[in-house]
Amino acid sequence: MEAMASFDFENCFILILLFVFSTFFLFRFFFKKPKNVFDLPPSPPSLPIIGHLHLLFSTSLHKSFQKISSKHGPLLHLRIFNVPILLVSSASVAYEIFKDHDMSISSHGPIGLDECIVFGSSGFIKAPYGDYWKFMRKIITTKMLGPQALERLRGVRVVEIERFYRNLLDKAMKKESVEIGEEALRLVNSILGKMSLGMSFSEEDNEAKVSGFSVEFVALAQKIFLQQMLRKPLEKLGMSPPFKKEVMSVSYRFEKLLEKIIVRYEEKVDEYYQGGETMDTLLAAYGDENAEFKITRDHIKALLAELFFGAGDTSSKSTQWAMAEIINNPKVLERLRLEIESVVGNTRLIQETDLPKLTYLQAVIKESLRLHPPAPLFPRELEQGCKIRGFCVPKGTSLVINAYAIMRDVDTWKDPDEFKPERFLGKEDERREKVLSFLPFGAGRRGCPGSNLGYAIVGTAVGVMVQCFDWKIKGDKVNMEEATGRAFLALAHPLKCTPLPRILNPLPSNL
Ligand code: HEM
Repeated sequence: MEAMASFDFENCFILILLFVFSTFFLFRFFFKKPKNVFDLPPSPPSLPIIGHLHLLFSTSLHKSFQKISSKHGPLLHLRIFNVPILLVSSASVAYEIFKDHDMSISSHGPIGLDECIVFGSSGFIKAPYGDYWKFMRKIITTKMLGPQALERLRGVRVVEIERFYRNLLDKAMKKESVEIGEEALRLVNSILGKMSLGMSFSEEDNEAKVSGFSVEFVALAQKIFLQQMLRKPLEKLGMSPPFKKEVMSVSYRFEKLLEKIIVRYEEKVDEYYQGGETMDTLLAAYGDENAEFKITRDHIKALLAELFFGAGDTSSKSTQWAMAEIINNPKVLERLRLEIESVVGNTRLIQETDLPKLTYLQAVIKESLRLHPPAPLFPRELEQGCKIRGFCVPKGTSLVINAYAIMRDVDTWKDPDEFKPERFLGKEDERREKVLSFLPFGAGRRGCPGSNLGYAIVGTAVGVMVQCFDWKIKGDKVNMEEATGRAFLALAHPLKCTPLPRILNPLPSNL
């Protein structure tokens, strides 16, 4: 998921690296074009040594890639120094690749720092497609994220959504403003804490600490991404990874907190303990010599860290973008309220079980994910050579799917840059996901296992905010400018607004 890193290169460190690399490669590769022994896809003109790196300077990475593909085509072969990249920017090419080669592209690419708790070698996201990945995916699907597990754990989310509402109401009474992204991140992490560990984070404020680490990692994602890209060339130069100290300092502290949480779980001293099937299963596998796959304590901590990191920022950013679009489109807000009033009424709080009947709310969330996918790019690596559209792409090539460009492709979407939730009403909707023109959650066997949970959390959180509050912002409109250099697609100016209660408290007074 990290690759979704939006990336600005206005960093002078990059220029220094460029200089060092250029000098090094100058002697070996100058004027020596890489041999095209394969029949590779088309490639825009490149520069000696750096290849196409200069084309990525102008803006965020997903937008730079979008600019390149709109000029040169939907299937391109690029080169950054000597790292080959296959760039895919249309639904039809993505569909062909996932239909014919899903198995060959079932890896999320190279690791930057082995020891790092997020995207390291003990983690799930970077694990190669194999026994370990299958074992962990089975656990998180059956115990936490699959349809039956979601149903079993629905009560947990009801409690947390009510807590989310009460917190907003409290701010509204005090006339305080809230940062929507922060409130949503706290909600997601407390839901995840209970769903995975069966544990309320409220004691010792672990929830705030876990959210804090997610935020620190998001801020470091650009550096982690750089680390991955530069690892091999740096190793050749005998240089150590440039941001190791900074990244590992956050990683060690996060690991320490997770170890503390696990120890407490093992001792079951937490008075809020409700039994976490995911954690029970992981600890059973850890202690069982004959387990289907022998996992270590590091595996458990890395899985938890990646779940919090991956789920938290994507879901909270999605909530923030959706609210920003709704506030900027009063007619959409009005239609949403009419729908909620007719399905839910105003005397009880909207619930997850209402979502299937709230088709317009679903369309609003999807349209927001289409325009603002939290993970605009997702990376894969070709583990085998593949023939794609008649071109031969060699093993080891990095694959970048530009979901942002695909979901704004003028050939597939009418008025692609406009916010029009109506386009997701009706049958057309399901077809879109099948032909991969709508892919905010990725695709294939490495696609997001948390999409249903993501929809449920974002749908109910946005539903509560629309049902129960009016929102006062500074100025007339929310500024929709995208931040650069961030792990996930984020607003450049986080959405801050003041809630004003619009209905009577819909929760029973004894809660
Ligand atoms: C709106 C919310 C979310 C969005 C937009 C999102 C998006 C994504 C994307 C684009 C990928 C990469 C897929 C690929 O390579 O094809 C991914 C992977 C992943 N996501 Fe999500 N995600 C969301 C919520 C969640 C939640 C709630 C969880 C779990 C609690 C989760 C867990 C994961 C995991 C574990 C992976 C790695 C899967 C693997 O490597 O096999 N995500 N997500």
